[in-house]
Amino acid sequence: MATTAETRLSFTKHPHPAPVAADVRAQVLANPGFGTAFTDHMVEIDYTEGAGWHDARVIPYGPIALDPAAAVLHYAQEIFEGLKAYRLADGGIALFRPEANAARFNASARRLAMPELPEDLFVEAVRQQVLADKDWFPTVEGGSMYLRPFMFASEAFLGVRPAKQYKFMVIASPAGNYFKSGAPAVSIWVSDYTRAAPGGTGAAKCGGNYAASLVPTAEAFSRGHDQVLFLDAAERKWIEELGGMNLFFVFDDGSILTPELTGTILPGITRSSLLTLAAEEGLTVREGRYSLDQWKADAASGKLVETFACGTAAVVTPVGKVASHEGEFTIGSGGPGQLTQKLRQKLVGIQRGEIADTHGWVTRIA
Ligand code: PLP
Ligand code: COI
Repeated sequence: MATTAETRLSFTKHPHPAPVAADVRAQVLANPGFGTAFTDHMVEIDYTEGAGWHDARVIPYGPIALDPAAAVLHYAQEIFEGLKAYRLADGGIALFRPEANAARFNASARRLAMPELPEDLFVEAVRQQVLADKDWFPTVEGGSMYLRPFMFASEAFLGVRPAKQYKFMVIASPAGNYFKSGAPAVSIWVSDYTRAAPGGTGAAKCGGNYAASLVPTAEAFSRGHDQVLFLDAAERKWIEELGGMNLFFVFDDGSILTPELTGTILPGITRSSLLTLAAEEGLTVREGRYSLDQWKADAASGKLVETFACGTAAVVTPVGKVASHEGEFTIGSGGPGQLTQKLRQKLVGIQRGEIADTHGWVTRIA
């Protein structure tokens, strides 16, 4: 971990003068959905070329002032992360693999020509955010606090070059289920659009990737599906990932497969955790290529028995149906598969302190 001067930044704290009323908050926490309500505080840290990271603070949640010429508004120099804080079985609070998010954030920063944030400062910023708003944990079963660290170019400058000023922020949102449909398994639309080309920014978690996914996502929604699936940009054949999740395939011989990290998909932290957990369950685990045609054929023959999506927001979500311009097919019985449920329970159990954490993934912060 980096031990620079910035690491030792101390956070000034400015409590919210008018936090959300307890009864309104209680209502939100009983039914949080995903990404619509925000807690009382946020973290902000500034970066200036030459001076480095400075002025770390926890301040009231609210709008920020930005120069209309700020580079992010024109050239999308922006990256983000997504992780969750969990209430543990014993009442404590923990983060799940926050250092992995910190490392991925810096990988994204390098790809977007942005300054890196020392990993321990990233984790400390997230910790400060959670502790400032620890009354904001959902009361609903399966709830957590979703954390969104992000960084953007704040310099007012219209020339096309990496900016010299940035802001790093963390906001928090109480979270329940990501998918509104409440269906036992989700339905997926295979897009004709592609998300990321070789050599592009597909492996970085930058806002621009998501901007490019909005038309295909809207198409998926309007056709009645829950998520969009992208094929590779070169051959339009190989399965890459969903708009906001990685994919896993489960076969009748007890093996599982997930698309390999070729630089065009996001290296999911849930994906990496599940690869470890699945191997521990005695499954043969493969990272490799899998085509849409093969997926369809294997689903028809019964060789493929389950498919699930995974990510911080989606946790582990079964895929029941796949549709494209060529038609649709069903996975297994169309509902949640056994292995999907088993892996989900294991992961969630570790995240919530109900199953022993033998990997050092759980960082207790309270
Ligand atoms: N792929 C994309 C495009 C994502 O947005 C996400 C979510 O962050 C993932 C995969 C899963 O990553 P993680 O498990 O780290 O949340
Ligand atoms: C996440 O799972 O954290 C994501 O970022 C996916 C989506 C909500 C953008």
